[in-house]
Amino acid sequence: MADIGTDHGHLPMWCLENGIVPFAILSDINEGPIGKAKLRIERSSMAEDSYSLRLGSGLSVLKPGEADTVVIAGMGGELTSRLLAAVPEVTDSVQRFVFQPRSRAGMLREWLWSNGWRICEERLVRERRRLCQIFAAEKGTQEPYDYPDIPECEDPLMIAFLDRELVNIRIVMDNLLRSKEPADRNKLEALQRKASILEQRREVLWKNSNY
Ligand SMILES: C[S@@+](CC[C@H](N)C(=O)[O-])C[C@H]1O[C@@H](n2cnc3c(N)ncnc32)[C@H](O)[C@@H]1O
Repeated sequence: MADIGTDHGHLPMWCLENGIVPFAILSDINEGPIGKAKLRIERSSMAEDSYSLRLGSGLSVLKPGEADTVVIAGMGGELTSRLLAAVPEVTDSVQRFVFQPRSRAGMLREWLWSNGWRICEERLVRERRRLCQIFAAEKGTQEPYDYPDIPECEDPLMIAFLDRELVNIRIVMDNLLRSKEPADRNKLEALQRKASILEQRREVLWKNSNY
């Protein structure tokens, strides 16, 4: 596996320590993080031939076919999409990506759908107050979601995710209601439709849950 933007190197270290991967590439664009990862992995009992440290941007540090699975976690969806588009020969050689976009997840999903990738698994994870979207992509086609920014999965945290989303939508709707701009009328109607669809999804999840 390759972990792009590895920072402290926790994830590849964990994968190696638990025998999940036989070899990991730890990469980062900045010297500080890659220095930390280097220190950590060198202090561990990890065999030197089980990892490689690389300094550079995105997938440019990889040769085509070098990593089966590539993780890009903790960057924005827009930057992640740009990194995927920048080195198509490497991107196309990957079997599975795992993403954890910090923002603009919808933009990343749209890039994937337009470039021959399908989302094969989605999870939500709580990190302190934040609900993080994590998803894996493999080659294939998929009908785009109605709302690419919203995960479509039956994760136990999905109700909490939708609740937060609905609160945010209602705040924007309140502001639009006060606006006199004619264009805001269309935005308001679009948000009303979105809120109603998300409420229906929430209702189905709630009925199927064991609460
Ligand atoms: C918020 S940290 C995420 C660390 C780790 N992946 C995680 O999820 O906990 C983002 C890391 O991405 C690195 N980074 C930012 N832009 C990058 C790029 N274009 N290529 C590689 N790494 C990058 C930063 O230096 C930083 O270490």
